[in-house]
Amino acid sequence: MKETAWKSPSNIALVKYWGKYDVQIPANPSISFTLSEAATTTRLIYKQGTGNITIYLDGEKTPSFLPKIQGFLERSKEFFPFTGKMDFEIHTSNSFPHSSGIASSASGMSALALCMMSVKKDLGLPINNFMEEASNAARLGSGSGSRSLFGPLAAWGEHAEIDGSSNEFAVAFSDVDPIFNSFQDTILLVDKGEKTVSSTVGHGLMNGHPYAATRFEQAHKNQSALLTSLLEGDLDTFGAIVESEALTLHGMMMTSMPYFMLMKPNTLEVLNKIWAYREETKHPVYFTLDAGANVHVLYPKSHKDVIISFIDSELRTFCKDDSYLCDEVGQGPVQL
Ligand code: DP6
Repeated sequence: MKETAWKSPSNIALVKYWGKYDVQIPANPSISFTLSEAATTTRLIYKQGTGNITIYLDGEKTPSFLPKIQGFLERSKEFFPFTGKMDFEIHTSNSFPHSSGIASSASGMSALALCMMSVKKDLGLPINNFMEEASNAARLGSGSGSRSLFGPLAAWGEHAEIDGSSNEFAVAFSDVDPIFNSFQDTILLVDKGEKTVSSTVGHGLMNGHPYAATRFEQAHKNQSALLTSLLEGDLDTFGAIVESEALTLHGMMMTSMPYFMLMKPNTLEVLNKIWAYREETKHPVYFTLDAGANVHVLYPKSHKDVIISFIDSELRTFCKDDSYLCDEVGQGPVQL
């Protein structure tokens, strides 16, 4: 019996991936901040066998994860042809609470893809570029997971201005003003429930969506403008694009058939408070959203104290159990 272990982070998209083609090919390019605190740690114990898989979440056997893992291994066979001839015990845990409403698929799938890459290496199978292949495999488990492999930012999907960008794997993006290397992300837990729309259903809503083609084109343009703002440290433009991307993501869901509203009343309260505070103080504080009601508050580290006291005095009351998580831009996965 042998083992390998990786800790891999979550990420938060600035330009959103929403819509895909078979198999796991994004309809538009996306770019994200890699996070530092929110992460999955996975220890994989392996031996020769017959393809048995046992999964433990926080030490508890969790067979309900099996279909997702099996689906991932099936799809990533070209990278891991050995899985049917081995037995695996997967021990996984997340740094963030299970009930927080934070998606664990990006960190979880990237951690598992990295563990499988380590097994592949141990078996002496040929590997061209370890991290690129891990990103490619993680994509097959969760599209956004492809971006968790690299920090401080990662871009996935072909984009004219990103050299080496690909629909099959993410690339590290570090051509940024230093202010972004330590950007803060305070995650306001407005709603801790299960997601009302799974990613699979959500991406599916883009098939036949009347505004899809325009949206995909817009994402390319937003990515171009965002890259310039990242390079120049232009926070106003950065904030405008990031907030517009978040609202567009939600707008696409409101205008699909069937339609969904993933914001809660408290989400709107928070957004309005952020806009009013920014108008009044001129502090560089912005928001983004994922496909749910929680709000990611983004701001430079230099403003941490003042923004945390704003959150404590004006935003915290809109969070479930008054709770939020403090995170910041990170450097990517680590082997343990
Ligand atoms: C709104 O990566 O969760 O967070 O590929 O089906 O696993 P699958 O989808 P997933 O979608 C993420 C959607 C998003 C935007 C983003 O992270 O870019």
